[in-house]
Amino acid sequence: MPFRSHRFCLAPMMDWSDRHCRYFWRLLTKEARLYTEMVTTGALIHGDQKQHLLFNDEEKPLALQLGGSEPAALAQCAQLAEAWGYDEVNLNCGCPSDRVQSGKIGAVLMAEPELVAECVAAMMTSCAIPVTVKHRIGIDDMEDYEDMRHFVSTVANAGCETFIVHARKAWLKGLSPKENREVPPLKYELIFQLKKEFPQLNIVINGGITTLEQCQSLLETVDGVMIGREAYHNPWLLNAVDEQLFGATQGGFAERLAAADALSDYIEVETRAGARLHHITRHVLGLFNGQKGARLFRRHLSENATRPGAGLSVFKDALALLRH
Ligand SMILES: Cc1cc2nc3c(=O)[nH]c(=O)nc-3n(C[C@H](O)[C@H](O)[C@H](O)COP(=O)(O)O)c2cc1C
Repeated sequence: MPFRSHRFCLAPMMDWSDRHCRYFWRLLTKEARLYTEMVTTGALIHGDQKQHLLFNDEEKPLALQLGGSEPAALAQCAQLAEAWGYDEVNLNCGCPSDRVQSGKIGAVLMAEPELVAECVAAMMTSCAIPVTVKHRIGIDDMEDYEDMRHFVSTVANAGCETFIVHARKAWLKGLSPKENREVPPLKYELIFQLKKEFPQLNIVINGGITTLEQCQSLLETVDGVMIGREAYHNPWLLNAVDEQLFGATQGGFAERLAAADALSDYIEVETRAGARLHHITRHVLGLFNGQKGARLFRRHLSENATRPGAGLSVFKDALALLRH
């Protein structure tokens, strides 16, 4: 496979893959490519740019995901992504929420491949970092394979080389965003077919992946895998990524507690700078799932990390409950 950049990616997830979460994930894997939550062009152009774009250098390689459908606005935001040091800018064509559809953002764009091609072309002219697209295998009544094929070939003709495909259709009417991540069946075979027909494209598969063994097997057919929910709920999975998927012989924590300890300096610096402890530790709650003391650890954090002024000592006390 010619592509290595996207071999293992962690998914963009609103309210979840924020900068604190990504910093924590990065402690566990040096090789994964990380994605921000989606930021709309409107929020970026008219809102608080620093709040949306700030990240820690440790997080790289890092992609900014944009939501939008106006070529000029997307071009402006792609330029910002490059100026802030992002390694990639990704256009969201997979998000099915109503709020997002009304602004012609997300999965609804799959019905307009020419517009997406125009957006991608505009973004590519305004920045030198890769412009990529994340989409579904279809929406509503779009015929499963042919329409997706048309979408991908039209957008690829505009210069996009990397496609991250969530292997489920989105039903824009009738299903909630959550249901749209669970109800429509996964159809990996359509993405395998895509890779076969477009061997020159970097094809990343997403949806329902829960183990690194599954990743290894999928990587025999496609260029990359992207995991979302399983990585969030079971972050310890990430500790073996560099070794199992990239052949790293060093690195990785010997045990979960060491991974949690490694977050201490970050917690100290961030809480001193004004971050709420809970905003960092909420992403760590799944680290000890299934381990002795995990419930006490989680309870201590839910009861104390939200308190004003809570800092590193609260986190350390929670960890002490696991050491017994
Ligand atoms: C809480 C949550 C928020 C999400 N937000 C986004 C988003 O902002 N942009 C996006 O492209 N996908 C978003 N997704 C979809 C994921 O990126 C991914 O495509 C989906 O969860 C399927 O992968 P998984 O089965 O590995 O979780 C979100 C998913 C979840 C669970």
